[in-house]
Amino acid sequence: MLKIINLSKRFAVEDQEIRALDGLNLEVDNGEFCTIIGPSGCGKSTLLRIIAGLETKTTGELIWDNPPKLGYVFQNYALFPYLTVFENIEFGLKMEGVALHDRTKIVLELIEEVGLTGFEDKHPKELSGGMKQRVGIARSLSIEPNVLLLDEPFSSVDEFTAESLRDLLLKLWHKRKITIIMVTHLIREALEMSDQIVVMTPRPGTVEKILENELKRPRNLRSDDFFKMEDKLRELIKF
Ligand SMILES: Nc1ncnc2c1ncn2[C@@H]1O[C@H](COP(=O)(O)OP(=O)(O)OP(=O)(O)O)[C@@H](O)[C@H]1O
Ligand SMILES: [Mg+2]
Repeated sequence: MLKIINLSKRFAVEDQEIRALDGLNLEVDNGEFCTIIGPSGCGKSTLLRIIAGLETKTTGELIWDNPPKLGYVFQNYALFPYLTVFENIEFGLKMEGVALHDRTKIVLELIEEVGLTGFEDKHPKELSGGMKQRVGIARSLSIEPNVLLLDEPFSSVDEFTAESLRDLLLKLWHKRKITIIMVTHLIREALEMSDQIVVMTPRPGTVEKILENELKRPRNLRSDDFFKMEDKLRELIKF
């Protein structure tokens, strides 16, 4: 699906150069759930933004099997404050020129899927953090992406809300069979959700280690196997 070869990113800040990423290699398969985990400031968001085309790379190559259709979910929701729930989710479809009748159908189905029925006409400021991220997820899926990128999507909500959002995301992924690349700094979250766990080094970020997560789904977070994998991952992570 995606092959990243020798990717580097340097930022020039005044007369200083910040090396954010250095010689990073990574492969993500079609339909895979991949998480990227690493210490704060190691370049996780930069990597995701480069994959999304929101940021330029300094050197290296990104090779897609086919031109991807990308969805993006932000840590702080990044909803349009003056648009309603319905209009936020509708936005991408409108940009694509989808007819009113069709987009209404798509948006209402998504609203039901993410559990926001009855909140169509609310504005973001009237929603809880968890509900805002439900809108963020629905908005990213409205254009039917084949690759969904998420940058610490559950780190702005409390743990109980995060749990239900994780379940929601897994459900949506199973149904759509799309490729997911998610940044997280939580070991147990990576183990619960993903097939491939990419552990990054401190800045300049590169791949420290890749862990194939072969725990059976649905994952039991209290099983011996899960705790064993948790120990294994903890050893690989230097933060
Ligand atoms: N636009 C920018 N201009 C200059 N430096 C930047 C820019 N964006 C990121 N950086 C720097 O690049 C490095 C990597 O930042 P990045 O946000 O990718 O890290 P991160 O791994 O996502 O961290 P966190 O876990 O805290 O979100 C940091 O040192 C950061 O200060
Ligand atoms: Mg980040």
